Amino acid sequence: MQNQNETLFIQHFNEKARPLDYYLKQMSGYSAAKKALGMSVDDIISEVKKSNLRGRGGAGFPTGVKWGFIPKQSAKPKYLVCNADESEPGTFKDRDIMRYTPHLLIEGMVIGAYAIGAHVGYIYIRGEYTREAKLLQQAIDEAYENGYLGKNILGSGFNFDLTVHRGAGAYICGEETGLLNSLEGKRGEPRVKPPFPAQAGAFGGPTIVNNVETLAAIPFIVNKGGDWFAKLGKLEKSGGTRLFGVSGHVKKPGLYELPAGGVTLRQLIYDHCHGILDDRKLKAVIPGGSSAPVLTADEIDVVVDIEPMMKIGTMLGSAGVMVVHEGTCVVRLLKRITKFYAHESCGQCTPCREGCRWMEDILHRIEDGHGREQDLNLLLEVADNINGKTLCALGDAAAGPVTSFVKKFRADFEAHIRGGKCPNA
Ligand SMILES: Cc1cc2nc3c(=O)[nH]c(=O)nc-3n(C[C@H](O)[C@H](O)[C@H](O)COP(=O)(O)O)c2cc1C
Repeated sequence: MQNQNETLFIQHFNEKARPLDYYLKQMSGYSAAKKALGMSVDDIISEVKKSNLRGRGGAGFPTGVKWGFIPKQSAKPKYLVCNADESEPGTFKDRDIMRYTPHLLIEGMVIGAYAIGAHVGYIYIRGEYTREAKLLQQAIDEAYENGYLGKNILGSGFNFDLTVHRGAGAYICGEETGLLNSLEGKRGEPRVKPPFPAQAGAFGGPTIVNNVETLAAIPFIVNKGGDWFAKLGKLEKSGGTRLFGVSGHVKKPGLYELPAGGVTLRQLIYDHCHGILDDRKLKAVIPGGSSAPVLTADEIDVVVDIEPMMKIGTMLGSAGVMVVHEGTCVVRLLKRITKFYAHESCGQCTPCREGCRWMEDILHRIEDGHGREQDLNLLLEVADNINGKTLCALGDAAAGPVTSFVKKFRADFEAHIRGGKCPNA
C-alpha cells in the first residue's frame, strides 16, 4: 500500500469535499498565492521550470516553458483556461481534485494567472461532471467572499475573475483549441496551429490552457520550491507525483498517487492494485487512457513515465491505466474503443471522419463473424491513412489502438475471423 503521507493530493481525498476551512488549516491554503503575489513573474516561472512539472493533460509539455511563451506585452487581454474536460476513457483523476480539493485548483489558477498576466480565467468542465461543477462554483463563491478571487486579491493589487464553463459532453472539447472554440460559443472544432493558444487563444488573446492536475500542483511548487518538487520525481525530466487511475481487471482499482517515474507497470498492477482479478493471467494493458497503444503482458516491466513509455511505442497520456485479463475478447474491446473515437470525431478532417467509421465498421464485421482475412491489413492501412494526417491528435488517438491491437494480438483477430466468432465465447 502506498504511504498516504508521501502524497500531495490523495491524502486529502475523502468522502466529502474539503471546505475552505480545511484547506486553510490542513493544507496551508492560499499561503502560496500570498507568497507568489509578492514575487516577480519571472521568479515564479523560473520555479515552475525548475520543478520539472510536465502537463498532466496528455502531451507532457513542460509547464514553465509553456508559461514563458506568453508575450509580456499584449494589446489583447490574456487568459488562463483550465482544461477540466477529462474525456479520455479510463481517466478520472481531475474529477477527484475538483471534488475534494477545489481550492487547490483555484489557488493554482490565481498563481498561474498572475504569472502570465491574465485577469480572467475559465474552468472548462465536461458537462457530465455536474457534481464537480457545483462544488467548484461553491468554492469559487467562497474564494470571492474571502478575498482570494476578484479585486485586489490578498491586498496585492492583482485582480482575477474566474468562471466555471460547462461543456456539453464532447471528447473533442478536451483538445485545447476545440475547447477554446466551444468556450467562445462556437462549434468545438480544433483550430489550425499555428497560431498556438499562447499567441492567439481565447477571443484572440494570448492564452494558456492547462490541465486540472497541472494547475493544482502549482501551490506546492510555490510553497516548497521548484527543486523540492523536482526531487519528488524519480527521473531527470519529470518532477512531482502522478495520479494514476487504474481500472479494469485488477483486485483493487482506483486512484493511486506515486512519484513520477518511480514505479513500473508491473509494480503498479501487482503491488499497488493487488494483482489480477480472480488471479487470472494478464492479457493486455492500455497504459495512458484508451488512445494509448496497447501493451502485452510481456511489456509491463516498463517505468510508467513519459519517455520510457514512448521508447516502447506507447504513451503515458492521461495516466489512465486499463488492465485486461485473459479471456477478454480483444476484438470486442478494440471495437468498443474505435466506436468511441468514430462517435467523437468532429468531422472536420476527412481521414478522421471517414477512417474512424471505416475502422469501426470493419471491426464490427469481424466481431459479428463476417470478417475476411484481408480485413486485418485493411485495418492497418486505414489506420495508417489517419495517423498524423489530421488537424488534431484525435485521429492519432483512434489509429494507435487499432494498429497496436492488430499487430500485437493478430492471432486473436485471425482466430475470430476463421471461427466466425470469439474463441472465448
Ligand atoms: C482529442 C483530444 C482530447 C483531449 N482531451 C483532454 C482532456 O480531456 N483534458 C486535458 O487536460 N487535456 C486534453 N487534451 C490535451 C489538451 O489539448 C492540452 O494539451 C492540455 O489541456 C494542456 O494542458 P497541460 O499542458 O497541463 O497538459 C486532449 C487532446 C486531444 C487531442
